Amino acid sequence: MNCETNNQLGDDAELYFSVGRRFLIGQGVKKDIKRAKELLTQAAAMGHPLAVQLLTTLAESTSPKKGKGKKLNITILAGSPRKGGNTDLLVEAFVQGIGTNHKVETIRVSDLNIHPCIGCNACFANKGNQCCQKDDMTGLYKKLAKSDLLVIASPVYFYGLSAQIKTVIDRLHNPIRDSFKISQMALIAVGAATLPELFDAILTEYKLCLNFFKLEDRGTLLVRGVKEKGEVSLTDYINQAKQLGASI
Ligand SMILES: Cc1cc2nc3c(=O)[nH]c(=O)nc-3n(C[C@H](O)[C@H](O)[C@H](O)COP(=O)(O)O)c2cc1C
Repeated sequence: MNCETNNQLGDDAELYFSVGRRFLIGQGVKKDIKRAKELLTQAAAMGHPLAVQLLTTLAESTSPKKGKGKKLNITILAGSPRKGGNTDLLVEAFVQGIGTNHKVETIRVSDLNIHPCIGCNACFANKGNQCCQKDDMTGLYKKLAKSDLLVIASPVYFYGLSAQIKTVIDRLHNPIRDSFKISQMALIAVGAATLPELFDAILTEYKLCLNFFKLEDRGTLLVRGVKEKGEVSLTDYINQAKQLGASI
């Protein structure tokens, strides 16, 4: 579980911090952004290591430039081949959290026929950046071209993303990506182990992709200790997925 709880400021000021730039504000201050700012400022003054970062995040998330109310086209790439498994359940909860504010499409990558990039670079020379491989990536490029927010959801496979997700990411080597309007990304990942380093490789790739594609990070949900099919439904991670969705 990647959340820490800080009770130092009293119950009504309980803050939930999580890895990366995502955060949730606990009970007492949930709907009171002004109070949250006060408390975070207090915490920053007390030298809490995450408070400054959280203040920045709060400022960004409440700034008008975020365009609250702007309907986003959200594409979720669900990367587990195990249908109805933990990744799918987390994605379902995330979508529930989003509600009707945005247009959402979930794509189970393993339902598609997508081949790995063969590195021929023909797409750099071909008219319209056409890939030499004729598979379901053709349709997916079109969907991605219209997306504002891309959500990557993957099980941990040998400390990395699933091959299904990685295959799609590799196909974004195609310069057609420059025509995409995607400006934001979020990550959901689930693994069986509980070791702290479980998501190191995935987070490194995620952060580098954010930088490379110049995307805004809309949050990460990193789920440890969940192995069997459907096991995640017995945990609080389902709520956390809903909350991440609601924060979009
Ligand atoms: C091929 C394979 C590799 C896996 N590698 C890891 C791993 O490196 N670390 C880990 O914690 N769990 C690993 N797991 C377990 C899955 O991440 C875990 O069961 C997860 O809940 C599966 O999600 P799903 O139900 O959406 O498929 C692996 C599972 C498979 C099938």
